[in-house]
Amino acid sequence: MCGIVGILGTHQVAPVILEALKRLEYRGYDSAGIATVNAGHLDRRRALGKLVNLSDLLVHEPLAGMAGIGHTRWATHGAPTVANAHPHRAGRVAVVHNGIIENFRALRSELAAAGLAHESDTDTETIAVLTRHYMDQGMTPTEAANATLERLEGAFALAFLFEGEDDLMIGARQGSPLAVGHGDGEMYLGSDALALAPLTDRITYLDEGDRVVLTRAGASITDAQGRRANRPLTRVRLDQATVDKAGHRHFMAKEIAEQPAVLGATMAFHCTPDKSALALPERLDFTACDRLILVACGTGYYAAQVAKYWFEGVAGLPCETDIASEYRYRQPVLGARNMAVFISQSGETADTLAALRHVRGHVACSVGVINVPTSSIARESDVALPILAGPEISVASTKAFTAQLMVLLLMALKAAQDRGKLSAQQVSDHLQLLQTLPGLMRAALDREPDIAELAQGLAGVNHALFLGRGPMLPLASEAALKLKELSYIHAEGYASGELKHGPIALIDETMPVIVLAPRDSLFAKTVSNMQEVLARQGRVVLFSDRAGLAEAGAVPQSLAMPEVPEMLAPFVYAVPAQLLAYHAALARGTDVDQPRNLAKSVTVE
Ligand code: F6R
Repeated sequence: MCGIVGILGTHQVAPVILEALKRLEYRGYDSAGIATVNAGHLDRRRALGKLVNLSDLLVHEPLAGMAGIGHTRWATHGAPTVANAHPHRAGRVAVVHNGIIENFRALRSELAAAGLAHESDTDTETIAVLTRHYMDQGMTPTEAANATLERLEGAFALAFLFEGEDDLMIGARQGSPLAVGHGDGEMYLGSDALALAPLTDRITYLDEGDRVVLTRAGASITDAQGRRANRPLTRVRLDQATVDKAGHRHFMAKEIAEQPAVLGATMAFHCTPDKSALALPERLDFTACDRLILVACGTGYYAAQVAKYWFEGVAGLPCETDIASEYRYRQPVLGARNMAVFISQSGETADTLAALRHVRGHVACSVGVINVPTSSIARESDVALPILAGPEISVASTKAFTAQLMVLLLMALKAAQDRGKLSAQQVSDHLQLLQTLPGLMRAALDREPDIAELAQGLAGVNHALFLGRGPMLPLASEAALKLKELSYIHAEGYASGELKHGPIALIDETMPVIVLAPRDSLFAKTVSNMQEVLARQGRVVLFSDRAGLAEAGAVPQSLAMPEVPEMLAPFVYAVPAQLLAYHAALARGTDVDQPRNLAKSVTVE
């Protein structure tokens, strides 16, 4: 979602801000802009579409200045247009914003009554107009920004820049992340450390409610109560903050290929050095836990649905899964012996964070399963379990999904051990099995040429169904989500046994039906459902192992997968699901790493 960069520099900043915005592109955006102060003069450039348009504009209309703010906008209030692009300017102030100002309509009416007009349809412009209003009344820029912040309701990360102030920038964080970067005689603001990575490895993460006044001499931070606050300065490991495609055509291809290594590393981190036992935090204690609640959005939610089979099947622990955007609106019943787990790659997803805050104080323990260790969910959970997938840049989640599954499976094994369902030796046996996973993932990746060929056949269709049973059902949903978001083909994941209760009416000779069915305990039942589709001339594509393909009989198309132990199938079958969507997107010529309308980190509700 929207990305923010601010620089108080010692050189011309517009080209540096543009480069930093490129590193935020992965968050998703539809317009971009930069404002600078040059010898006291505030000016800005904004462009619709990709950053190349802003770059072209800057070639023809350069922007001088050693202080500036930049923004990539993902439209919420107001269509993607130049007029709605940030920075928004009113009089002597320019503002960039990530989030939503919920009371902007009331503020806008109040300002209109005072004779102050708006030029855009955005909530953000109201912040600039209100600040201008306070400055017109004689307040200093800092006083005016503070007075404005007092009036705002909703979520925001903000950066303010002022005409006549070459050495001043103000930042604020409430609900959306913002980091301060420390350079040599320079200071920075950024939505995340990735944006600032080549500029500095010295980062201070702002806390909820913090405000910061930056000059080139340093940062002065105050907390939500207006008290001076000392936030730690952390060194960000540059190898974790700098990212390239490592020779791959797209970040997505690179991230899919990384999965064997990622899963090995994630497992190693949460186990003893010899990998014979778990090494999860002591606070993660399931002994007295009577119910587990798994909450997430999108791909994380499908990881939760897979894990439900493990927590119930292996640990005998009652487990429910919820979509975060629904969770707190259905008055969930919480108990003092419940454990609630929030799964999020970014750790900033607004709905998941709100759900975490909703359960606080009502459950025994809240757990964040996160990829970004400095994220809000990581910091606000009682226990933060990193999935250690490394930066995931492609908007479509791939390696984070399987790394989430890994952490959730390790948690399920711990739950089983804590609850006396598995002995230490049995856990050790499971961990030994898990060590075969990287090899199995590599074998699945080797199937890429066949998967690419199957994807060619999908490229011309408008609809597709994915069928699965047991843990393969959430996999079917995840496969459909990947296909939808990457290739814009309408796809649904369905429980194979549920098809005949309605969706089977969709089946004709044009409907591709991809069946995910390893030769497991549920195989025969899934094959029966597949036969029902075949009987109606559906275009079945069966993903199964050699034994499964032999047993299933004739199908129009199939993919031979490696033989996998039942517990590991959700990991291994994620690979063809991801690659099928990737190659369908290539065949249809869509934007693989940044599909239309999508944002990587969804920081608004
Ligand atoms: C799909 C995808 C999204 C995210 C969802 C949650 O490929 O990436 O569905 O999984 O937006 O994001 P996080 O995990 O950051 O909370």
